[in-house]
Amino acid sequence: MGAAVVQPGLGRRPSKEGSSVERRRSRVQIPAAAPQGDPVMRVGFIGLGLMGFSMACRLRDRGHEVIVYNRSREKALKFVKECGGEAVESPEAVGKAAEVVHVMVSDNEAVASVLLGSGGLLNSPVKHVILSSTITPQFSSTIKMAVEGPDRKYTEAPVLGSVSEAREGKLTTYVGGRPEDVSIPTLKDLSEEVIYVGEVPKASALKLAVNNLFLSILASLAESTALAVGWGIDLSEFLGYLKKTWMEGIVKRYEKRGFDESFPTRFPMRLAAKDLRYAAQALQRACLPSVLSSAASELFLNASMLGMRENDYSHLLLHMLKIATSGKCKA
Ligand SMILES: NC(=O)c1ccc[n+]([C@@H]2O[C@H](COP(=O)([O-])OP(=O)(O)OC[C@H]3O[C@@H](n4cnc5c(N)ncnc54)[C@H](OP(=O)(O)O)[C@@H]3O)[C@@H](O)[C@H]2O)c1
Repeated sequence: MGAAVVQPGLGRRPSKEGSSVERRRSRVQIPAAAPQGDPVMRVGFIGLGLMGFSMACRLRDRGHEVIVYNRSREKALKFVKECGGEAVESPEAVGKAAEVVHVMVSDNEAVASVLLGSGGLLNSPVKHVILSSTITPQFSSTIKMAVEGPDRKYTEAPVLGSVSEAREGKLTTYVGGRPEDVSIPTLKDLSEEVIYVGEVPKASALKLAVNNLFLSILASLAESTALAVGWGIDLSEFLGYLKKTWMEGIVKRYEKRGFDESFPTRFPMRLAAKDLRYAAQALQRACLPSVLSSAASELFLNASMLGMRENDYSHLLLHMLKIATSGKCKA
């Protein structure tokens, strides 16, 4: 590992809460890791979208020196202003400056671009690539082959939880790679729980299996809402009937968020469509039926194309309600 960079006055890493005052103190280079706890590291972070920004900021709170890259430079500059760290011009520059590099971009294509494109991370002598994007298992296996070599490791680390959990270090992280990867200090800093699933690409497969279930349940609730409302049942009465059944917890989770267009986006509609499409592709690659994932993906895609691309995924409920009350077809 290269020389660590820590903040003066912090003999050890900051507490879990890591104050903003500590974050803003000037930094000096000292050659050794912090004496107690996990070492402070030079961490690269590629992708400062909704999740990446919060995760990278959390790593700053935990005392790491963070070197960031984002395709749109404004987000990288905003990150430096709000969280500190250093912004560089390319993924390759991140790999030249950091011991370990986390990647959190949107999908397979974005991962290919930041790793393999011109100025890509793999042009650098990076030693360890940790990929948290939700991607297909087949693509994760391809990435493993591209990344791994005698001096370079690949760990897949998709996450459950969203923006606030990322910011507070409360994600659940599924690890695919070597069993000892559950002890990667930066993953522990980001997570309430780090779970070893098995070799690559089992963590990517598990993440899609879980999201397929979560998102298909929401799609089903949205379609049933349209059915009830389309046949003249009042929305709140319908939700009330459901709350008398084992669906209570699911209805309570979505009854405000799903119908309130002002609810801030935590997980965009377009990414829900992507995850379900990837779940369908993973099922098909394993010669398994993909009826529900394919159908649910179409619903989220439809809402995305009709103006809800950047809305929270829960607004599929609102989308289906709007269709049901549009009066286009009287049942
Ligand atoms: N949001 C959640 O609650 C959540 C939870 C768990 C997992 N995830 C997964 O985590 C990943 C990131 O999600 P997010 O919500 O942070 O997405 P997001 O807000 O859309 O951010 C996507 C990031 O990927 C970058 N990107 C997209 N295409 C690119 C390309 N071709 N080349 C280089 N960079 C590219 C974007 O750069 P620009 O800023 O330039 O567009 C941005 O930094 C996704 O795989 C998602 O499924 C999300």
